[in-house]
Amino acid sequence: MPDPGEPSAAVPVPQPAANPRDRSEAVVAAVATAVGLMTGSLQTREFAGPVLRLLGEASGVSRAYLFEFQRKADGRYLVTQRYEWTAPGISAQIDNPDLQGLDLIDAGYGRWQETLLRGEPIFGEIAEFPPSERPILEAQQILSLLVQPIFAGARIHGMIGFDACSPRAPWDRFEVSVLRIAAQAWGAAVLREERDAQLRHMQRMEAMGRMAGGVAHDFNNVLTVVGGAVEALQGEAAGPAPSGGDRYGRILRQALDQGRGLTRRLLEFSRPGAGQARELDLGEAVARAVPLLRQAAGSRVRVEVERAPAPRVRIDPVQLEQVLLNLVINSRDAMAEGGRVRVEVGPGPAARAAGGAGVAQLRVTDNGPGIPEELRDRVFEPFFTTKAERGGTGLGLSTVYAIVTSHGGTIALGPGTGGGAEFLISLPAAG
Ligand SMILES: Nc1ncnc2c1ncn2[C@@H]1O[C@H](COP(=O)(O)OP(=O)(O)OP(=O)(O)O)[C@@H](O)[C@H]1O
Ligand SMILES: [Mg+2]
Repeated sequence: MPDPGEPSAAVPVPQPAANPRDRSEAVVAAVATAVGLMTGSLQTREFAGPVLRLLGEASGVSRAYLFEFQRKADGRYLVTQRYEWTAPGISAQIDNPDLQGLDLIDAGYGRWQETLLRGEPIFGEIAEFPPSERPILEAQQILSLLVQPIFAGARIHGMIGFDACSPRAPWDRFEVSVLRIAAQAWGAAVLREERDAQLRHMQRMEAMGRMAGGVAHDFNNVLTVVGGAVEALQGEAAGPAPSGGDRYGRILRQALDQGRGLTRRLLEFSRPGAGQARELDLGEAVARAVPLLRQAAGSRVRVEVERAPAPRVRIDPVQLEQVLLNLVINSRDAMAEGGRVRVEVGPGPAARAAGGAGVAQLRVTDNGPGIPEELRDRVFEPFFTTKAERGGTGLGLSTVYAIVTSHGGTIALGPGTGGGAEFLISLPAAG
């Protein structure tokens, strides 16, 4: 679907040099202008329209478009058309349901996936493409095309493509290379946008942490006063026969304990750095926590641990336990009918690749319903909970996040192989 908020009209489309001698010159001029748009302060959704139009017009094609790739748990890719420009009189494909969430391999485009992942373009006359690829392209009246991969850092983000629906001189190597520069600039813009969003998220978490800490601190003082009064009340009411004061005292005490529990969690979340980090073996620490985790998981949820040698890390063992507890309790909550939580310790992917020290990884997975796509961005937010009516505070995962990052680590949601939730925590090697 086209982005509803797409304000492309608000971005003036600079015109490349008039009357270029040939198409290559026009393409170079358009790419230069497009790179200028992409490396400025515009968001992808703001520059997408103007950039596709510039490049499409200059290269004399019928459509220019962008597809985003989404990697599935099994390593396959789904591609979805996000932006499109069409020359006058050409049918738009942006609402073509065949081009939304297309599984490249199922659709017969395994060659595309392989080539693009290698960082190479696909281009040529459709008549010369393998038969499995032609139906979808011919249905769009395409005669020839060029597709360039877009990488955001090391990860493929998508592809930018150009369709010619009328006869056109073949793509030459020069044009292909110049349009690759546009794809690279697009990828750099996506990466910049993602980093900006991460930074804003961290700043918001920090601000909320400070606020939560302040509120918890003051609230604790209030609870201390109430606690003193309750004790005095219960002392006065203590007598041979149970009195009304006794009963109310018990209710008050319960409420007090709840209030204290809440402020303790708020403080944990806002001040995770207060702990006592020491060097430890992550696998051993996890093994020691197993009885506690089993107790927290209850009788219906099985807790499994798998350990591979991993570099030693520096972390406060009590906070590590909190991390594990929060994750296991969340899994238990998600699997009322029962299931299993698996905690795996091993070398991080980076360390595995480098064959040495670097990172220890903690992977926690369950086989519950998993975390819906639309909540993935929000679960680490303080106070975000889908269990408000069951007493969830929404501080569990934000505490986990705060603990992990305060130890120099990272936490991310994995794709959740098999449908359940997957949390990936990396901690830097000690020393
Ligand atoms: N293993 C999981 N499976 C499915 N959803 C999960 C899982 N873990 C977390 N979530 C989702 O993330 C939300 C936030 O989790 P978080 O631990 O921060 O708060 P909470 O569990 O709702 O509240 P609290 O931790 O105070 O009990 C949950 O409400 C739930 O929707
Ligand atoms: Mg929780």
